[in-house]
Amino acid sequence: MFVVAGVTGHTGAVVADTLLAKGHKVRVIVRNAEKGAAWQKKGAEVAIADLGDAAAMTKALTGATAAYLLSPPNFAAKDFIADRRQLVGGLAKAVKDSGTRSFVFLSSVGAQHPAGTGPIVTVHNAEQALKTGAPSVTFLRAAYFLENWGSVIPVAKAQGVLPHFGAVDVKFSQVCTKDIGLAAVDALLKPADGVRVMELAGREDWSVQDVAAALSSLLGKPVQAVAAPVDGAKAGLMQAGVPETMATLYAEMYAGIGKGLVAWEKPGSVTRGTTALLDALRPLV
Ligand SMILES: NC(=O)c1ccc[n+]([C@@H]2O[C@H](COP(=O)([O-])OP(=O)(O)OC[C@H]3O[C@@H](n4cnc5c(N)ncnc54)[C@H](OP(=O)(O)O)[C@@H]3O)[C@@H](O)[C@H]2O)c1
Repeated sequence: MFVVAGVTGHTGAVVADTLLAKGHKVRVIVRNAEKGAAWQKKGAEVAIADLGDAAAMTKALTGATAAYLLSPPNFAAKDFIADRRQLVGGLAKAVKDSGTRSFVFLSSVGAQHPAGTGPIVTVHNAEQALKTGAPSVTFLRAAYFLENWGSVIPVAKAQGVLPHFGAVDVKFSQVCTKDIGLAAVDALLKPADGVRVMELAGREDWSVQDVAAALSSLLGKPVQAVAAPVDGAKAGLMQAGVPETMATLYAEMYAGIGKGLVAWEKPGSVTRGTTALLDALRPLV
C-alpha cells in the first residue's frame, strides 16, 4: 500500500495515478471527503487528514509500504516559515509513530542551505526534521516548476510581456511537475538505504527568453521576456497584491538565485526529466 499526499495538486496527482496504473494499492490523503470521491472512483482508499495533524496522519500512514509527502505552502500564514515548521513537526511525529519504513519527500533545489533562499528554507527545515524519520528516506529536490509560469500567463496574453525578477537570457533549471511525479514513483518503488538526496532538473535548462518564445508560439502572438531589477522584487510583488511576508521571502529567493544559493548541491549527479518545454506549457495557456 502506497500512501500519497497532495493528490489534488500537481505532483501528488501524478504519483497516485501512476501507481494505480501500475496496479499498486494506493491510499490518498485529502483534507475532506469531497476531494477524495474522485480517487475512490479510481480505486484508491481515502484517508482524511491535514499534513500537520500528527494523530490523523499517523492513522493515514499506518500500514504503508512507502509514502509520498510534501509541505505545501500556506500563503495565508502570518509567519510562513514558522507555520511550515509546525506542519513538518506534526508530519515527522506521524512518520515515526506510524512506523513508516520508507518515504519520499518533495524538496527543492537549494534546500541544502539553512538561510538566504526565502521560502526554500522551509524545505531545508523539513529535511532536518524528517531525515531520521524512517529507515529509508528520499528527499526529491526539484528545480523551479515550469507550472509557476501559469501565474504570469494572463499578463503574457494581455500585454505580450513575460516579466521576471532577474536576468532573462540566462538558462536555468526548470522542470515539469509531471516529471517530478514520475521521479517520485521511481524512488518509491526503489527505496533508498538510509537518506538519499535526488536532485531533479528538467529535460534541458531554459532561459526566460526561451519560455517567452515557447509561449509566443502557443499563443500565436509575440511575447517578450522583460527583466525587472531584483532589488525591486519586494515592492513589485506587493504592488501585485502579494502579502508583505511572502514578498519579503520571494525577494530573498531572487537575491539568493543571484548569489548562487538556489543551485544544485551535487551538479554532477542531477537527473533530468523528459517533458519538452512546449508540452509543459501547453496545458497552462
Ligand atoms: N514551485 C516551485 O518552483 C517548487 C520548486 C521545488 C519544490 N516545490 C515544492 O512543491 C510543493 C508543492 O507541490 P505541488 O505543486 O505538487 O502541490 P500543489 O499543486 O501546490 O498542491 C498542494 C497539495 O497539497 C494539499 N495540501 C495543502 N495543504 C495541505 C495540508 N495542510 N494538509 C494536507 N494536504 C494539504 C493540497 O490539497 P487541497 O486540495 O486540500 O488544497 C494539494 O493537493 C511545495 O511544498 C514546495 O515546497 C515547489
